Amino acid sequence: MTLQYWLRWLSLQGVPRLVLRVQSRRGDTFARMMGPEGIRDPHPYIEQIRAQGKLVKTPLPWVTCDHSLVRTILRDNRFGVRSSARIEIPKVLAKFANRMPPPANPADPPAMLRMNPPEHTTMRRPVVSAFTPRAVEKLRERVETVTEELLDAMPSDGSVDMVEAFASRVPIAIIFEMLGLPRADMGQFLFWGEEMTPMLDVGISWSKYHRAMRSARQLNDYLDRHIERLRREPGEDVLSNMITGSQLDHYALKANTSIIIGAGFETTANLIGHAITLLLNHPEQLDRLRAEPELWPNAVEEVLRYEPPVFITARSALTELELEGVQLPQGAMIMLSLAGANRDPAVFDDPHRFDVTRPNANEHLAFSSGVHACFGANLARMEAGYALRAMFERFPDMRPAGPPRLRQQLTFRGYAQVPVRLGPAVHATSSH
Ligand code: HEM
Repeated sequence: MTLQYWLRWLSLQGVPRLVLRVQSRRGDTFARMMGPEGIRDPHPYIEQIRAQGKLVKTPLPWVTCDHSLVRTILRDNRFGVRSSARIEIPKVLAKFANRMPPPANPADPPAMLRMNPPEHTTMRRPVVSAFTPRAVEKLRERVETVTEELLDAMPSDGSVDMVEAFASRVPIAIIFEMLGLPRADMGQFLFWGEEMTPMLDVGISWSKYHRAMRSARQLNDYLDRHIERLRREPGEDVLSNMITGSQLDHYALKANTSIIIGAGFETTANLIGHAITLLLNHPEQLDRLRAEPELWPNAVEEVLRYEPPVFITARSALTELELEGVQLPQGAMIMLSLAGANRDPAVFDDPHRFDVTRPNANEHLAFSSGVHACFGANLARMEAGYALRAMFERFPDMRPAGPPRLRQQLTFRGYAQVPVRLGPAVHATSSH
């Protein structure tokens, strides 16, 4: 089994990793952006790529940071998703590597993020109705209750890590309720999420991949039991609807549940973590929000624009085609920098300025576009908007208590730790 996983890693991650490392040493901008320097501060690399043109060839794929081109590609059905930036390994080895499917996970088919229409539509349809604006509005009260409970539990005037104590807790509590998962298992899922999301990156190490696969196996065992229980006694939750209302087989159910869970809390947690850090570092923007709290929804859009929790995605040409005067062969892969699109000066004035009053902040592409556009966007916006405002009102003197620590991941970019000194709690009576 381990040899099989190792060969999968080699094909999906190991060879791209080697190419990226070699190219990075040679000074290639894209390779450096995808490495540790880029994780720390990707924007200098993004701007270098932007300066080279709209569509730039790199030693691995093509890349674009251009807002209009990213949006066009995401909405163009001549492009689709591929299982990964896979690099071919000899056929006999590939056959062995794929002899047994890996444990169902968010990064491999049939997770909907890795499927093209028409199969993609089959995966997505049974879920989206739970995320319409009206369905999300019904969750508002629960978001308020969960937020207040978490804030009540914080030590007045103490020091806490806001990722651990707050940013990850609000979204996971809500997605757990939506999927009918028991609260007691949240800690376990936070751990699995942390271990598995690196699979969405390009060029991760064997040890990270191995840990991700181990967590995926444990999650599969868990979901086997949980799905079995829901088959016997379906509830009102999203997963019960997927089980009873769709034709998805057991493996597809698990893969798509794992992506809903992973996408449902890691991304929103990163949004809240980014927002806390940005606002603490821009106290004048926080003052503006205190004076005009109706700006909160726009502030959330500006955080999504400025620090998109999903930093990069990719599409492949499904057929030979022409784009921007370039002839692309079938299979050509283009990395789409959502972060680059979000700071495109052709769309956003003074794009590197964080400004909660920016009139067109919501033109960002943080939730992607086209058939894979995030259906959790309304939920994420509502959760983050409420949670952030309530938190800054409860602890108006909150201050950083040390440097925040970024996760060593690029696709799901966010903070692993945001240490703060809370200051005294204020119990306001205002309703939002
Ligand atoms: C701030 C929070 C969030 C951000 C920034 C975000 C971002 C994204 C992006 C960029 C994509 C598309 C990737 C691509 O086109 O390749 C996506 C897809 C997806 N998101 Fe979100 N997301 C967030 C929250 C959520 C939530 C709360 C849920 C569910 C509860 C969710 C579930 C999904 C799923 C299942 C997909 C795959 C959709 C498909 O392939 O059709 N996301 N998200």
